[in-house]
Amino acid sequence: MTQSAFRAQLLTFTGDPAQSPDAAQFHEDGVVIVEDGRVAASGAWSALKDRVSEGAKVHDLRDKLIVPGFIDTHIHYPQTDMIASPAPGLLPWLETYTFPTERGFENEAVAQDTAQFFVDELLRSGTTTALVYCTVHKQSADALFTASEAKNLRMVAGKVLMDRHCPEFLRDTPQTGYDDSAELIGRWHNKGRQMYALTPRFAPTSTEAQLEACEALAKAHGDIFIQSHVAENPDEVKWVKELFPRQRSYLDVYDRYGLLRRRAVYGHCIWLDDEDRQRMAATGAVAAHCPTSNLFLGSGLFDFDKANASQMPVTLATDVGGGTSFSMLQTMNEAHKVARMGGHHLTATRMFWLATAGAAEALDLADTVGTLAPQTEADFVVLDPQATPLLARRTARAESLEELLFAFALLGDDRAVFETYAAGARVHSRETV
Ligand code: GUN
Ligand code: ZN
Repeated sequence: MTQSAFRAQLLTFTGDPAQSPDAAQFHEDGVVIVEDGRVAASGAWSALKDRVSEGAKVHDLRDKLIVPGFIDTHIHYPQTDMIASPAPGLLPWLETYTFPTERGFENEAVAQDTAQFFVDELLRSGTTTALVYCTVHKQSADALFTASEAKNLRMVAGKVLMDRHCPEFLRDTPQTGYDDSAELIGRWHNKGRQMYALTPRFAPTSTEAQLEACEALAKAHGDIFIQSHVAENPDEVKWVKELFPRQRSYLDVYDRYGLLRRRAVYGHCIWLDDEDRQRMAATGAVAAHCPTSNLFLGSGLFDFDKANASQMPVTLATDVGGGTSFSMLQTMNEAHKVARMGGHHLTATRMFWLATAGAAEALDLADTVGTLAPQTEADFVVLDPQATPLLARRTARAESLEELLFAFALLGDDRAVFETYAAGARVHSRETV
């Protein structure tokens, strides 16, 4: 058994801080003890120092803050190189930039090179788990999983399915989409830390026959993830109404094909109604709130009050390349402002929960990642309160945990990530890039 210990300020969660004031557990002088890639113990140094074995390496990070690794619940790796592409809204952005860029992933070398850069960029931002869209090409998923496996990351990804309303060069068919997804599930789902997500891009790009194929795959594999987009943009919602006139709402299309359930994650969820939200809550389907993307593409403002009232599971996501940053700290920054626009005060403490333990719980991974609880996988981030001159001055004046976290959320980005660890191993260091 190999043991190592990380002594630092420490933040973990036992629940949603909006529900219970004690849910955020903060230790001014804390420690995470790691054995064979898992957390053996975490908490106050004074209580745990005797658990640190004689030969263990103790990393002294007392001027830093350790939090569980960030979880980004919606991101497109093939869009890495087209981030920050200007367009007047979602549908023209897809036509002008997204589809031509995704075409490049028919080339395996492009997929491998981008996947490697993408994984490194996630780690630079402190993101240790992500739900990743690949392209329609199955080799794009192989490239992503291979890059993730090489770093031993807990990653969820899938090949996109789309068989209409996109350029010919990006189309699969109900049969090839089914076969390729089934093959990838067999190859990657639960292989080491890799997990598969069935990924119909969004209702407009799948025929009913393809959605039926998705339904069959989802039924056959009860523990895989499902990911798609819903109710992102008013023009898109109108289009779905024309394409599926028999369904009550956009979300109802996915319901019709058995795609609402635990481990089903829907990007955006802006233009839902109360009945949709209740359906999300009843089925355990998860909303991935993508504030930087929604602001950038002018899609709309996610309604936190309505989401909370419905009790549907909510998580935070970047949605790169519609999103404008890989950083979950920058994502919190924008999430806070979007909530403010709706008259809702979203605390930093809750945003850190949403990006860690809350996401793990919503994704049915709470026993695996997100909390630094004993026996979970040791994925964590070391944040530096002095990363920039301004952050140093502001955090020096922080009078509460909330103020400290708020400074990280509003002023932080990849520069605030000192180190990132996956399964107890260092996978990023700011100092050695
Ligand atoms: N809807 C369908 N495809 C996409 C995509 O790639 N990005 C975003 N933001 N929305 C989508
Ligand atoms: Zn997206």
